[in-house]
Amino acid sequence: MTVKRSIVLGTGSYLPERRLTNEDLAQMVDTSDEWIVQRTGIRARHIAAEGELTSDLAVAAARKALEASGVDAGDIDLIILATATPDNTFPATAVTVQNKLGLTSGFAFDVHAVCSGFVYAVATADAYLRTGMARRALVIGAETFSRILDWEDRTTCVLFGDGAGAVVLEAADGEGTTADRGVLTSHLRSDGSHKDKLYVDGGPSSTGTVGHLRMQGKEVFRHAVSMVTDVVEAAFEATGTDANALDWFIPHQANRRIIDASAKKLGIDPAKVVITLEDHGNTSAASIPLALDRAVRDGRVARGDLVMLEAMGGGFTWGATLLRW
Ligand code: ACO
Repeated sequence: MTVKRSIVLGTGSYLPERRLTNEDLAQMVDTSDEWIVQRTGIRARHIAAEGELTSDLAVAAARKALEASGVDAGDIDLIILATATPDNTFPATAVTVQNKLGLTSGFAFDVHAVCSGFVYAVATADAYLRTGMARRALVIGAETFSRILDWEDRTTCVLFGDGAGAVVLEAADGEGTTADRGVLTSHLRSDGSHKDKLYVDGGPSSTGTVGHLRMQGKEVFRHAVSMVTDVVEAAFEATGTDANALDWFIPHQANRRIIDASAKKLGIDPAKVVITLEDHGNTSAASIPLALDRAVRDGRVARGDLVMLEAMGGGFTWGATLLRW
């Protein structure tokens, strides 16, 4: 049976020039490199320059993804940008990205699922491509979390950073088996009863301000592993695959301990886990495409590989996508 699949043509990513190390942070708040590395695995994060916007990071990553794909920007008819840190309350930052890429055709919108945003965006693009509403999609995760951090709160400001990553997806025919290239299955979940565990204390409708990120770290940690493993297992079950069949596990890059515990619970060989968080911290919706792009460019992820993407974040939201490269 012929089915439509969304195959990845290429990837790209971008990190702002300014690198803030744990030692730099120790000059700003009462913390240490040792504490941050031991609890999170993070060694540095990148901070957008003054005037450098989420859309600028997104465009930089998008251009690299387009170049890697051999696709002209003009051939893109759908742009989905996952972000929790848009340039403005509106218009959608995706539309600004569309404009900065010189496009006036097709359609663009933002997806807001915080750290799960990239998985949500890939699943959404896949749905549009499979139904024929679009043929070639640019899916981006881009964030400037440095703008919503409370830089006096050591329990949160050490964890996050700015960055962007992107993929180009194209609709192609598949056989309807797990041997097909492209997105094989996606599983998305949310549960708003966890809102107070990770949120921003401002917004256009509540305070009229942007607000700052607030988090009950232990509570997030407590739920993260079970939520992540739940959706990854759902993806295995839906496709009749398992941890042994997987070539690469590319998790949201929030915290090394969450990643290690999730991989262990799922029985995934640590050698198959892609971890880049030491260089960029938690970049929310940008973290998966940042890690993915690194693993593609250094030759780890290769044609035919089975790749699992997963994330969990504010809301809570969580999700997983299984695809064949
Ligand atoms: N430097 C030094 N000490 C610190 C820091 C810091 N940056 N932050 C907190 N501490 C102190 C605390 O004040 C506390 O001191 P006390 O014992 O004197 O009260 C001590 O360290 C222990 O604090 P805990 O909060 O208990 O530390 P914990 O071991 O839980 O680690 C952490 C905190 C890293 C936030 C952990 O809870 C965690 O990883 N949670 C998951 C959060 C996460 O990854 N969020 C990302 C967003 S969600 C997502 O993307 C999935």
